[in-house]
Amino acid sequence: MPSTVAIVPMGLGHLRQVLDLGHQVFDTTIKPYTSWSLTAVAEHLDSPDNACWVALDSDRVVGFVLGSMEFENRDDWAYLEWIAVAPDMQGHGIARRLVDACSEALFTRGARHIVTDVEDRNSASAALMTSSGFVPAATVTLLVRANPAEASEEPALPPMTKRDLVRRGRLSVEHPLP
Ligand SMILES: CC(C)(COP(=O)(O)OP(=O)(O)OC[C@H]1O[C@@H](n2cnc3c(N)ncnc32)[C@H](O)[C@@H]1OP(=O)(O)O)[C@@H](O)C(=O)NCCC(=O)NCCS
Repeated sequence: MPSTVAIVPMGLGHLRQVLDLGHQVFDTTIKPYTSWSLTAVAEHLDSPDNACWVALDSDRVVGFVLGSMEFENRDDWAYLEWIAVAPDMQGHGIARRLVDACSEALFTRGARHIVTDVEDRNSASAALMTSSGFVPAATVTLLVRANPAEASEEPALPPMTKRDLVRRGRLSVEHPLP
């Protein structure tokens, strides 16, 4: 079945399925600074130098990757921000093909480095990225101080994107080069 899966550039017609698949597989509570939304997808598609690809099984979107030439204020760094494969299609090398297509496009456009971030407990994503040639460059620990007046057990951040946090100087990321 996966041999019939084609990797093609993402178009507007794929948007609904990409959004739904992301809602199905992303747990954005793990990284509370991220938010999966129509805006997140549309911003990528709207960017003229995006590197967004979908994996198609006939007309069904069974995977996608959203990349761009925008990584904060680094002109020559690119960002592979979102990747997902439908649960029933995982384990067949589809994500690897998506990472390769996206990376090839970004390097062709002049990226010197591609950045991606992996949450500690996401072993599938870590395995995918390390076996695709990504190496650890910096570790950022999200520290949360709970309001003692709040009864809530789960620390929660306001729904702010990572980019917002970095822009406001509330999340710093170091990027030592190899
Ligand atoms: C991460 C994800 C995209 C991998 O998709 P996939 O199509 O199953 O991955 P592939 O089959 O291409 O596997 C690529 C590599 O990752 C490894 N891998 C994939 N899933 C794994 C798992 N659950 N545990 C350990 N390794 C795993 C594979 O063994 C393979 O490594 P290899 O080439 O050295 O053998 C998929 O699990 C997913 O959609 N997860 C939910 C969304 C997510 O967390 N995205 C990342 C954050 S944006």
